[in-house]
Amino acid sequence: MRRQHSSWVPDARTIRAFRRTIGDFYRTHGRAMPWRETADPYCIIVSEIMLQQTQVERVRDKYLAFMKAFPDFRTLAATPLQEVLSLWQGLGYNRRAIALKHIAETVVESYDGKAPASVERLRMLPGIGHATASSIAAFAFNMPTVFIETNIRRVFLHRFFEDREGVHDDELLPIIAATLDRKNPRRWYYALMDYGADLKRRVPNPNRKSRHYARQSRFEGSTRQKRGQVLKFILAHTNATPGTIAKALNLPGQETMQILHQLLAEGFLIKSGRYFGVV
Ligand code: ADE
Repeated sequence: MRRQHSSWVPDARTIRAFRRTIGDFYRTHGRAMPWRETADPYCIIVSEIMLQQTQVERVRDKYLAFMKAFPDFRTLAATPLQEVLSLWQGLGYNRRAIALKHIAETVVESYDGKAPASVERLRMLPGIGHATASSIAAFAFNMPTVFIETNIRRVFLHRFFEDREGVHDDELLPIIAATLDRKNPRRWYYALMDYGADLKRRVPNPNRKSRHYARQSRFEGSTRQKRGQVLKFILAHTNATPGTIAKALNLPGQETMQILHQLLAEGFLIKSGRYFGVV
């Protein structure tokens, strides 16, 4: 059953006060990030995809290395996937690297090397959902899009839903739209994200109030970690077999086979006889 949500929005005075709080915070505590110093859509797309599932501090160095190795869509499109995956090691969720490579190919083939400047078309690119397309449009093209990510959600839950539980994103979106600085959405969203990141340190997890809240599973010992280790091993060893992989990583044989078959089915690996290689 679809729940009906009220679309309450704050009054003009509350909006003004809220904007002032966020703006004041940003002036004194705004964070410098290399991808904030550019509006180049390529840089924005790479950084937003990296930031989807990885924290700012871990993204910073990888982003700089990535830009140095693959400075534009054309270079990335022309680079073998193996090289891209190799640089991606450490960020996790490798399918994002594959998506980025496909994005680069699509932009070169269908858009003459220039990213499309519309949420609808950005959204049609691999690995880009509505929120990422909207954030790219805001940061690269300064468009007044309306979207939610984890830091933004925390800000609105904390400020407008202090005494509520189970808040649906549909309730937050009209408030995000009503408070948005339409003259400078790019700066406004940086400010919101920084305020939200700071709240995380200051108050016990306001995102628990969200219906969309899911604690991220622990990485250590997870299948995701093992998949990463298997890929890394295969990248570094040309003659990797299930036996050598299991032994090197100290994994049970059956689990190793499971992981290998999954990676094979998802298109990360190829198999030639007993040997596995990265696509
Ligand atoms: N600045 C630009 N995009 C960001 C993001 N996704 N997370 C944090 N800071 C950002």
